[in-house]
Amino acid sequence: MAIVKEKNINEVIDNLFEDSKYDHLKMMKSAAKSVFGGFKPSNFKDVYLSISREQGEDLRALIVKKNIKNIVEFGTSFGISTLFLAQGILETGGYIVTTELIESKAKKATENFERAGVKDLIEVRTGDAMETLKDHDSSIDLLLLDGWKDLYLPLFQMLEPNFHEGSIIYVDNADMGDTQAFLKTVAGNTRYNLQSLYGGKVVLITLK
Ligand SMILES: C[S@@+](CC[C@H](N)C(=O)[O-])C[C@H]1O[C@@H](n2cnc3c(N)ncnc32)[C@H](O)[C@@H]1O
Repeated sequence: MAIVKEKNINEVIDNLFEDSKYDHLKMMKSAAKSVFGGFKPSNFKDVYLSISREQGEDLRALIVKKNIKNIVEFGTSFGISTLFLAQGILETGGYIVTTELIESKAKKATENFERAGVKDLIEVRTGDAMETLKDHDSSIDLLLLDGWKDLYLPLFQMLEPNFHEGSIIYVDNADMGDTQAFLKTVAGNTRYNLQSLYGGKVVLITLK
């Protein structure tokens, strides 16, 4: 990857991680809103909820190692994870489709991709992933599941026709209740292998 591009992406990632340091404070507000007004994704419109830097760097390495090109991401937020994915596909010549429910987050993410110089490699689909990915008809090498967990199963099932022998499904927050139920269903299907990473925070699903 060209040195200038690498520098731009790293700078944007650093700035976003810096800003996300206040997530825990914003989370308290979001949680309070949810207690009093019911759970709404918009309560979390200012919170990053991003993957860790270690996860991002490992994802980038995985993309390069497996020569992954076609990536779909559920849950863009402000684009931290997507930027790590972009670092990977810059080396493999790939493309990313990412989807975000909250319009203001999708807009900010798009600005971040522009600032990092990788906007042309990323399609941001704004709206509910069940709608924005409904007609996704190209094959998927890597699916990153990092949106609200109750959608993991229906989304996985909707995208199953796009999987192939080498596909990898990266499941973040695998230790959460809703995700556990999803993983139990997938584990019951003999077509799939499950591998736990980071002490159970992530599960990689591969096809047998
Ligand atoms: C955990 S955050 C994603 C973090 C991001 N992957 C990162 O590491 O920087 C989850 C995001 O999924 C979005 N989301 C939740 N439900 C969604 C849906 N039905 N369709 C699309 N995005 C959704 C939320 O608005 C939130 O921004």
